[in-house]
Amino acid sequence: MAQDKIRRNPEELRSHRWYGAQDLRAFGHRSRTAQMGYQRTEYAGKPVIAIINTWSDINPCHSHFKQRVEEVKRGVWQAGGFPVEMPAISLSEPFQKPTTMLYRNLLAMETEELLRSYPADGAVLMGGCDKTTPALIMGAISMNLPAIFVPAGPMLRGNWNGVTLGSGTDSWKYWADLRAGKITEADWQGVEDGIARSAGHCMTMGTASTMTSAAEALGLTLPGAASIPASDSRHAQMAALSGRRIVDMIWEDLKPSDLLTAASFDNAVTTVLALAGSTNAIVHLIAMARRAGIALGVDRFDELARRVPVLANIRPSGAFLMEDFYYAGGLRALLAHLGDLIVRGTRTVNGRTLGENIAGAVVYNHDVIRSRDNPLVASDALAVLRGNLAPGGAVIKPPAAEPRLHRHTGRAVVFADYNDMAARIDDPALDIDAECVIVLQNAGPQGAPGMPEWGQLPIPKKLLEQGVRDMVRISDARMSGTSYGACVLHVTPESSVGGPLALVRDGDPIELDVPARKLNVLVSDAELARRKSEWQAPAPKFERGYGLMYLRHVSQADTGCDFDFLETPAGPVGTADPEIH
Ligand code: FES
Repeated sequence: MAQDKIRRNPEELRSHRWYGAQDLRAFGHRSRTAQMGYQRTEYAGKPVIAIINTWSDINPCHSHFKQRVEEVKRGVWQAGGFPVEMPAISLSEPFQKPTTMLYRNLLAMETEELLRSYPADGAVLMGGCDKTTPALIMGAISMNLPAIFVPAGPMLRGNWNGVTLGSGTDSWKYWADLRAGKITEADWQGVEDGIARSAGHCMTMGTASTMTSAAEALGLTLPGAASIPASDSRHAQMAALSGRRIVDMIWEDLKPSDLLTAASFDNAVTTVLALAGSTNAIVHLIAMARRAGIALGVDRFDELARRVPVLANIRPSGAFLMEDFYYAGGLRALLAHLGDLIVRGTRTVNGRTLGENIAGAVVYNHDVIRSRDNPLVASDALAVLRGNLAPGGAVIKPPAAEPRLHRHTGRAVVFADYNDMAARIDDPALDIDAECVIVLQNAGPQGAPGMPEWGQLPIPKKLLEQGVRDMVRISDARMSGTSYGACVLHVTPESSVGGPLALVRDGDPIELDVPARKLNVLVSDAELARRKSEWQAPAPKFERGYGLMYLRHVSQADTGCDFDFLETPAGPVGTADPEIH
């Protein structure tokens, strides 16, 4: 490292308070470091790099992190830092119930408190499986130490008898085919064995690919990092380079508050839209922005959606997968193709602007990464709906819905909660047809609780057998980014707190008009007021522990589902640091 890059001296390092003093406490810290086999020359005066590692035996998306953390450490050592691995809770999307979203804020808190309570000068954040990305970044924003994000990288394409399979997306597709009798149990077994065949996160444009790409657009990763498949050797190289870079970031005192601006969040939103990314990004980016003191709201997504084209031809909205996207040039190429829709002057972790990082990026496959004059979809990758059913907004992903349903009025078929839906949806006696609107209540942040990804409500088996593949479906839940369909999500306020969704009854006409951004239940105000007066709040789902804290403090979807006591902007480093006793 060139000496002229150092702007701080070692005594200014936060870790110096633990290691540098000549007192009994520092003696204890040094003697216990010696206990782990380190000599003082290996760490004295060096930045301490906390590597927040979300590896777990229960998280297949991060199964390579045991190896990747060694590569991060190698980079830290090479650059003159002292790496300290700090495991944190892994939010494993396939396994954690009722939903990883219930625990996003817990990982955010853990990240912040690990950094606060230990001698960290900066952080490498290792995540990628869905909520791990926003959680790690939210915690790092609040602590506001130099931080760099190492995205887990997508897994390789799935394969079954030569057919390419995409995470989630093809699970739903072949599950519907199995239920409709179009494939056999043996076929279904083949899909199960072939759909996830390497380390890495979901390789469709689900929440993982969406949020790691958003992190790169925010300037929190090295250029190009988010697109590299997990099992590609260049992913290991990126991990080592991230370890090298964080050491210089500490000497340069380059913190999240130096990088994150309203413009960088606009870049992240624009990126999500151009990727036809997951609707979950709305909740997460709003929460991340609010941690940084930036007033990002749902309407900004709608404003930008009206002018940002979808350029990434990736499932579920398109045809390809993240591996194809990487070979086609990856996120740098897509951002370069967006031209003046991207603010180029925003700063990034490598010390350069986003514009400098994407300059000269080339598209190698123009079907995978389209140009602005040949987009996959011209605009409206997401739409924010309002009306008497969603005064605080609701969200739909129009490209994932059959176009005939963009304007639709149908009678409601209402399920009071998930269990009610699971019990009755396939009942042959259920009074439902393809024009009906399926409504699920009590699936929001408080209701489920945790706002699970239940929003792709199942189509009744008897309608599947008739060939129906899409219907208008409405809930206060979220939806997996790998899902598709005319699913209206994030209805706010949610039904469990008495939002209008709670007042819908079987047979009520519901009007969806995506071009006009409207969502209404066609029932008189007087009747809705009468129903509201009879409405009773459901019993709380938790009476103790983290769940109770969650219920007391979680906000609604339009403000990011963060805890009210965590929504504070990044402050100067050290304002909340502990005294060392
Ligand atoms: Fe981990 Fe999809 S299950 S990203």
